[in-house]
Amino acid sequence: DPTKYEFLQVTSPRPGVAQVTLHRPRALNALSTPLITELNASLTHINASPSIGCVVLTGSEKAFAAGADIKEMAPLTFSQAYTTSFIESWSQLTSTLKKPLIAAVSGHALGGGCELALMADVLYCTASANFGQPEIKLGTIPGAGGSQRLTRAIGKSRAMELILTGRFFSGDEAERWGVAARSFPTHEALMEGALATAETIAGYSRVAVMAAKEVVNKSQDLALRDGVEYERRVFHSLFGSHDQKIGMKAFAEKKNPEWSHE
Ligand code: HXC
Repeated sequence: DPTKYEFLQVTSPRPGVAQVTLHRPRALNALSTPLITELNASLTHINASPSIGCVVLTGSEKAFAAGADIKEMAPLTFSQAYTTSFIESWSQLTSTLKKPLIAAVSGHALGGGCELALMADVLYCTASANFGQPEIKLGTIPGAGGSQRLTRAIGKSRAMELILTGRFFSGDEAERWGVAARSFPTHEALMEGALATAETIAGYSRVAVMAAKEVVNKSQDLALRDGVEYERRVFHSLFGSHDQKIGMKAFAEKKNPEWSHE
């Protein structure tokens, strides 16, 4: 049963929405390799589930995730890390899942936890959430994209300061800097906000939603001219979908569209 995991809880609290809750409370959701393996398995399953249109990834009120598992990393040698491509499996998260992923961050999101949140398509947090890249204090550096994604999100000077000092930053700051799309006063408000947004997204054409996610993400990799051209190609391709006909016909007839998701 793919919904039975040791370190995750997977539920569907709203129509079309999957909620994946990191659940390793004794270690503040430290992201061990077995946990990431389960997360990849759950997202692969969700990606293939026609009934799911959007995913909310969250932790507990106390911790989204306090980082990669320091106890697992402590004895690793260079050769082991290099030959096993340690941490590479985290990248599956962004490559397998074509449906939007909303991270709902409460409490600690440190090191790999911060990097995991930065991989999400939309980041929501509580105002008091505790973000940071404290790897420097452990004698190492971010290893799951933090130096790249945080720098793109907040600019070089701020990212450099945070990564070189290990200083934590709040959910409030994350929102002001544009790392988070929104911050919420409480954990409850955060979850309500994340699930409501996920339900809205899950109510649209799956084809259009996936295409929208794909083209926005391309903007992170491509130069502007290439990105605009890429967007136009994908836009053209959507004239081949049923849902484009359904959506535009419904508008003209002043009806609600009934998506075929094709
Ligand atoms: C393994 C961890 C952990 C972690 C917490 N724990 N974070 N175990 N890896 N990243 C464990 C603690 O050892 C402890 O276990 C239990 O969780 C509760 O933690 P406490 O420290 O007792 O809780 P508290 O006093 O509330 O402090 C919370 C905290 C602190 C400030 C978040 O736990 C902390 O500083 N954690 C490490 C944060 C960090 O440096 N993260 C970056 C990791 S490096 P016991 O058994 O003692 O009860 C990283 C590299 C990324 O992520 C690069 C590749 C992805």
